[in-house]
Amino acid sequence: MKHLILFASGAGSNAAKIIQHFKGSSEVQVALIVCNKPEAGVLQIAKNEGIPTLLIERERFFRGDAYVPELKNYGPALIVLAGFLWKIPDTMIEAFRGQIINIHPALLPKFGGKGMYGAHVHKAVIDAGETESGITIHYVDEHFDHGDKIFQAMCPVLPNDTPETLAQRIHELEHRHFSEVIERLLSS
Ligand code: GRF
Repeated sequence: MKHLILFASGAGSNAAKIIQHFKGSSEVQVALIVCNKPEAGVLQIAKNEGIPTLLIERERFFRGDAYVPELKNYGPALIVLAGFLWKIPDTMIEAFRGQIINIHPALLPKFGGKGMYGAHVHKAVIDAGETESGITIHYVDEHFDHGDKIFQAMCPVLPNDTPETLAQRIHELEHRHFSEVIERLLSS
């Protein structure tokens, strides 16, 4: 059985999709949900599904061992960031080099970097007059939104789009592709 660790702190819709996708799988198990917000919806989802959770604190994440020992206990084949906003510390990147991936709601290398998350991304895309946006799934390295690209998918930006309507289109893309890309990575 290959173990997946999901990091999520937002609404958790991607995490929920991934959990559903691998439910009952004899090859892949979502072994742990890591979250930095006690009120995050994803914790309830994990609880309903009987998946262990780890609530992390800033101090130890950035100044300590970044919870590497706990994560190692789960023997992850892959660590997936699905709406996790803190930068991953170097300690963790070194411990799991090439095993951490992220999803970004734009076509990197455009519209990435510090402060580029959620509605900020979609607003920047619209303000720049882009006619296309999309999603990027990439490896995580020491720099924000920078590691090697694994997958991209595109969608149009429509003339009357708001950050909200564009976000919705992007979310649909994420939900359609993320689990399959993870599955492919795990089987290769
Ligand atoms: C997604 O748009 C993802 O690209 C970004 O954060 C958002 C998380 O959404 N990194 P959700 O919490 O999965 O609904």
